[in-house]
Amino acid sequence: MKRILVIGSGGQIGSELVPFLRKKYGKENVIATGRRTVLPKVITEGGPWVYLDALNQESLKKVIYENSIDHIFHMASVLSATGEKIPQTAWDINVNGLINVLEVSRRYGVERVIWPSSIAAFGPTTPRENTPNETILQPTTMYGITKVSGELLAEYYYKKYGLLTLSMRLPGIISSETAPGGGTTDYAVEIFYEAIKNKKYTCFLKEDTKLPMMYQPDCLKCHVNFVEIDESKFKRHVYNVTGVSFTAGELAAEIKKIIPEFTIDYKPDFRQEIADSWPKSIDDSVARKEWGWNPKYDLAGITKDMIEKLSKRLV
Ligand code: SER
Repeated sequence: MKRILVIGSGGQIGSELVPFLRKKYGKENVIATGRRTVLPKVITEGGPWVYLDALNQESLKKVIYENSIDHIFHMASVLSATGEKIPQTAWDINVNGLINVLEVSRRYGVERVIWPSSIAAFGPTTPRENTPNETILQPTTMYGITKVSGELLAEYYYKKYGLLTLSMRLPGIISSETAPGGGTTDYAVEIFYEAIKNKKYTCFLKEDTKLPMMYQPDCLKCHVNFVEIDESKFKRHVYNVTGVSFTAGELAAEIKKIIPEFTIDYKPDFRQEIADSWPKSIDDSVARKEWGWNPKYDLAGITKDMIEKLSKRLV
């Protein structure tokens, strides 16, 4: 059985990825790590957990060596909106953290490094509808700049050292267990909490802002595909993936079908400019063709499942 390290296991994706992987590969084979001190019990009590700061190469070496790690999921990242507030820290965590992981991985014989890139790798000069896999990458946010830099670095480590790196350009992730923090697509999670608790929500993006999104179960499936699928299927190391694109208004309308008294108003802030620089929809046909990417959830499916799950917890 392969040994897996997850860095950033307290985050929006990491906190669900760890239990998902433990169920699949055995709890002792999945080492949860990160810098957060307050972690869900499912992480700390469900299997091995160690504190790890990816900015510290020595501790990375120790954890990877002592645990005979085969695959790494590097999930630690500062998201787009926070990145605009602390751009130097975003660079440090997103780029210097990644290069440490790549460097230690190639020295210690790690087989695969899997880490998410983002739709933020694209920018205002990229075609915004059906954005192709290979296209212009001129982001205008620090977050986007770190993701493009990461894509180039990871490719470099593959070419120079043969380290298999794989990344998916994730859209906004909608999840029911851990809320995202500091992203531009966070509204699509917040809206559910507010709709259930207060029946109203003030959205920080405009009603007609359309962005690509994905439901967490599809996102987890994508991560597992990257460990399980045979290397020969991957003709490149960065893939566009998407679930479904919708506007803030369309999401609100879908929620209203289940919670009729729900109301929404719109007060766009600095995040609007970030959203306006990103694609509205993504062409993920390359991922579908090469390794069988096939997301399940559409807008109605996401909305129904989110409301069902959160309603149980929030009442
Ligand atoms: N969810 C991310 C953000 O909004 C996009 O990758 O920053």
